[in-house]
Amino acid sequence: MRVLLLGSGGREHALAWKISRSPRVTKLWTAPGNPGTALVSENVALDLSDLDGVARFAKDEQVDLVVVGPEDPLVGGISDRLGDLGIAVFGPRQDAAALEGSKAFCKEVLVRHRVPTAGYRVFTDLNQALSYLQSGARYPLVVKASGLAAGKGVVICEALAQARQAAKAMLEERVHGKAGSTILIEEFLTGPEASCFALTDSRTFVPLESCQDHKQLEDGGTGPNTGGMGAVSPNPMMSTRNRDAVERQILLPTIHGMNHEGRRFQGVLFAGLMLTPAGPKVLEYNVRFGDPECQVLMMRLQSDLVPYLEACAKGSLDQLEAPEWDPRPCITVVLVSGGYPGSYPTGVPIEGLDEVEVGDDVQVFHAGTARDAEGQLVTAGGRVLAVTCLGDDLEMARTRAYQVIEQIQFAGKTFRRDIGTAAIEILRAYT
Ligand code: AMP
Ligand code: GLY
Repeated sequence: MRVLLLGSGGREHALAWKISRSPRVTKLWTAPGNPGTALVSENVALDLSDLDGVARFAKDEQVDLVVVGPEDPLVGGISDRLGDLGIAVFGPRQDAAALEGSKAFCKEVLVRHRVPTAGYRVFTDLNQALSYLQSGARYPLVVKASGLAAGKGVVICEALAQARQAAKAMLEERVHGKAGSTILIEEFLTGPEASCFALTDSRTFVPLESCQDHKQLEDGGTGPNTGGMGAVSPNPMMSTRNRDAVERQILLPTIHGMNHEGRRFQGVLFAGLMLTPAGPKVLEYNVRFGDPECQVLMMRLQSDLVPYLEACAKGSLDQLEAPEWDPRPCITVVLVSGGYPGSYPTGVPIEGLDEVEVGDDVQVFHAGTARDAEGQLVTAGGRVLAVTCLGDDLEMARTRAYQVIEQIQFAGKTFRRDIGTAAIEILRAYT
């Protein structure tokens, strides 16, 4: 089978690594890829916003399956373009990718199908938003850009002044461009967060193991929000009861609801959840794997991933057994450039990676890396590397990951030192 994977982040290196281990795969390309995906596949310099270019490559190379990593091409309609040419693709069509592309649309679906989520109002007019913030709203609350804002379109507001400022920045100053031309003002939810993933062909769904992301930049969950600074799997807060509630009250009605709306969803449905005292509620849906959650999931997945991806694309997920997982926990810690999520330098040499002994239990997935003219590995983005380790218990996995981090050097290397500590405390409290 000839597979084309789209994307260039840590998520895609983890996917490429896993896909490349499939005995079914005879050829794997990653577009555009990164120096990590180049180790396990052939990188091909395609521009993912050029849908015709991607489709042409897939056709010319007789690709059997396209796997879409990031949300932008999905929201832009890559699956429609490829599907219309008869090419199998893992990832939803544009009408279903709107679950991530438009938070306002996502909320409508959730409400229509009675999926638990925070109460909200939608605004496109600044004066109306301001008058609601002044008179009707209860604080704290959350102001969100409806469109894709690379994880930066959410502001938690303690009081009126901050909320006014956030609404103004989005609706008037257009800090997120068109993505902020519609905003949501949401009820503030409390509780631990969880990331839940299900593979689906729109009729059958296969829940994946639970994960916990660490979104804030700094230890203790402080500082600005980022794309994700680290993750653990399993998430110790995902009790059987929570899992059941997520499957029955959230995933199932969403997938069925999308069918009823004539927007068949196939691919991976990623629910960002708050485990509130009243049960799990949806913060947002994404229509792709999480980054860095994908890194820990791929390390723990023992079954071949490729049959699942293909079955989602072709509507035959009911033919497959449930996947097998390594029972051991996994942790990933993301190394970021100094300054991220603000501005940061690139082209900074990375040393020590060659000395890391990688294998089934230790992988260092590349994200924002590149090779310079001399072949030296350098930084090329905000999130640079994801150090990912399995261990007999979470503490061992964690110790191992932080040892590996010490081996890798680059100027400005920044990371959280507390990835997994909250999970370890919860596990201790229950044993
Ligand atoms: P989102 O991109 O919608 O998942 O939001 C990013 C982060 O903002 C989430 O992971 C939460 O930490 C926080 N957040 C979003 N919505 C809410 C909410 N309604 N209540 C509390 N925190 C929220
Ligand atoms: N780690 C969260 C995300 O991928 O959106």
